[in-house]
Amino acid sequence: MAELKVLFTRDQIAQRVCELAQEITCDFEGQPVIFIGVLKGASIFLSDLARRVQLDATFDFIGVSSYGSQKQSSGEVRLTKDVEQPLTGKNVILVEDILDTGLTTMYLKRMLLAHEPRTFKIAALLDKACRRTQDVKADYVGFTISNLFVIGYGMDYNERYRNLADICVLPTDRPESAHALDK
Ligand code: PRP
Repeated sequence: MAELKVLFTRDQIAQRVCELAQEITCDFEGQPVIFIGVLKGASIFLSDLARRVQLDATFDFIGVSSYGSQKQSSGEVRLTKDVEQPLTGKNVILVEDILDTGLTTMYLKRMLLAHEPRTFKIAALLDKACRRTQDVKADYVGFTISNLFVIGYGMDYNERYRNLADICVLPTDRPESAHALDK
């Protein structure tokens, strides 16, 4: 793993997650919130964020998959796991590890708004704003990044590297990552 370049260290991530948690705590002072993490990438971000927020909070997970070849999304999103608690009238915060084209988040936003929550916000640790094809943006953003293929802190390449504590960049000169930036 020595060849992986660190983009954000575990300390930088922890600091930024703490700041986001403070923002959320201020915005929802005295109110309960439900965090909904998008599997699998957001699981670690949600765990850290939820523990830093000083609110009455519950959390849930939602699963999606994109149709299409390995890393090239066709733009069609399919629900693989639904939420398990009622969202009507609740303060819902959708938690994403990374906002890329926005297809996943747009799909989930539409789906979750149909539950008629009291409020709906999006928290994304990373925002690849330059890749956006959908008119969607996050209310809480950790870091805005360029079009790099990032791994670690929940994010994978072929299911590997999710357990790295730092966020790293997968080198594009490695044969197995040749198409990674198409994602
Ligand atoms: C990633 C990420 C988002 C989505 C963002 O998930 O967690 O859900 O891609 O891409 P988009 O904005 O272009 O839709 P991925 O499909 O890699 O699944 P994973 O979280 O299980 O790794």
